[in-house]
Amino acid sequence: MTAVNTDHSTPASRETFSRRSVFIMAAIGSAVGLGNIWRFPYVAYQNGGGAFLIPYLCALLTAGIPLLILEYSLGHRYRGSGPLAFRRISKWGEFAGWFQVFIAFLIALYYPIIIAWAVRYMGYSFRQEWGNDPARFFNESFLHKAADGFGLHMVPNLLIPLLLVWAVIVIVMALGVENGIGRLNRVFVPVLVILFASLVIRALFLPGAAEGLNVFFTPKWESLLHPTVWIAAYGQIFFSLNVGFAVMITYSSYLKRKTNLVGTGYVVAFANSSFEALAGIGVFATLGFLAVSSGQQVGDVAEGGIGLAFIAFPTIISQMPGGTVFGVVFFGCLAIAGLTSQISVVEVCIAAIRDKFGLARWAATTAVILPLLIASILLFPTTTGSSTLDIFDKFVCSIGIVSAAIVAMLTISWGLHHLPILQTHLNALSSRHVGWPWRFCVSLLTPAVLLIILATEVHSIVTEGYGNYHQWALLAFGWLPILCFFIIALLLPLLPWPAAAEVDKGAVRRPEEDCAQRRHSETHDEGNAVTQDPPA
Ligand code: ALA
Repeated sequence: MTAVNTDHSTPASRETFSRRSVFIMAAIGSAVGLGNIWRFPYVAYQNGGGAFLIPYLCALLTAGIPLLILEYSLGHRYRGSGPLAFRRISKWGEFAGWFQVFIAFLIALYYPIIIAWAVRYMGYSFRQEWGNDPARFFNESFLHKAADGFGLHMVPNLLIPLLLVWAVIVIVMALGVENGIGRLNRVFVPVLVILFASLVIRALFLPGAAEGLNVFFTPKWESLLHPTVWIAAYGQIFFSLNVGFAVMITYSSYLKRKTNLVGTGYVVAFANSSFEALAGIGVFATLGFLAVSSGQQVGDVAEGGIGLAFIAFPTIISQMPGGTVFGVVFFGCLAIAGLTSQISVVEVCIAAIRDKFGLARWAATTAVILPLLIASILLFPTTTGSSTLDIFDKFVCSIGIVSAAIVAMLTISWGLHHLPILQTHLNALSSRHVGWPWRFCVSLLTPAVLLIILATEVHSIVTEGYGNYHQWALLAFGWLPILCFFIIALLLPLLPWPAAAEVDKGAVRRPEEDCAQRRHSETHDEGNAVTQDPPA
């Protein structure tokens, strides 16, 4: 019996990853980013230490993995970027895809400057140029941070590595899905894991490492009673797994027809969480060394984000034996983790523009990267760039990703009533099936939790502001970009699609029909066999 092929004339031009393993590498590269290295350890420590594992696992199992699998099914079945996948379900869904694309665009705008800082600090590590006062070096000599106000005073020391980072991104994106994104991740993801694991092993042998780990893992059970701890767990999972901004829809649209989607989702999610656990161990072992060598408590030296990477770590690097190598590897890991995440968010935008306007890859790459490049040069390698970056990051993570995820889940489950179809798609392809718990998480539980998170964040920013910034700065770099992009997302569906993409419902994959036809053929073959039996 021959296999039934119902992959009706999918658009010949759509690129694919050559193998599922390449897709898995790309998905892990996209998920493992700065969020794993500098965000997770501090978030976990601040929100209950060892006890944080409970809300973290709940968030992973009820929100992260279900949404990841939802995005895989959307991209794989509808073979499109965010907007096209939603559009192929219904014209009323398209705006949800565009909103996700714009959130990816905002991330793609500010991520490269952090990669550029990491590249610069790799160089500084050789001679530990930050001297005796890394905080002062970072703020004054490196960023040339302005005391107040926002301006466009360029800092060449930041501009040059930023241009270098963009040059690498342009080359990777121009090379395409398999030769650019696939190849980069096939090399860089294993390199990142090996380098980072070596750092962690080195950190474990530092004096004071045990103290650091003790503080990190000691469970504060009472913290589980605080809603903020649960909110932090859900927020961390969303940012870290890259769900809610169409990365996984886009990447899974490049998968081959027969792919075990649910199994792949588990592999990617657990790989990402394992990397986070590794980062927590490495960072706190290192902070334990800093605490012991400076006669302080681990809690006094613990911090996350920019302060951890560019102030605490340089301090440690200067004090530890073999600090130069440790510094080069640490900042190298930051740069690699950032780059593999960055190319995934840029690809979300490129794929959407290609699909919507029927552009060639080079044209779509130019159309996306040119505005990103210009805006990132104007906003970030400046004397006030770090403040702009801080506001962007806060609003995109706390408001943008969460809102886009809520809009997508509500659109699919309540607006378009499409969950049963996606469930059938997943189950026709995967060895592990999804059932009502998956539908319950995606349609009710996760949107409800996310709505609470969103309301809490909006209330806190509106009533208390954020980080002592002026209201106008929060408006200009926080509220306005998200609001404007939401309105543009509502308007873009009014523009026509190239006919092939819009009406080519044949491009939709229906693996459940393959299964039904296969069953039918098998029954038919058995029937033939009976009739062909010789008479007794
Ligand atoms: N998932 C990416 C990170 O963790 C964006 O940084």
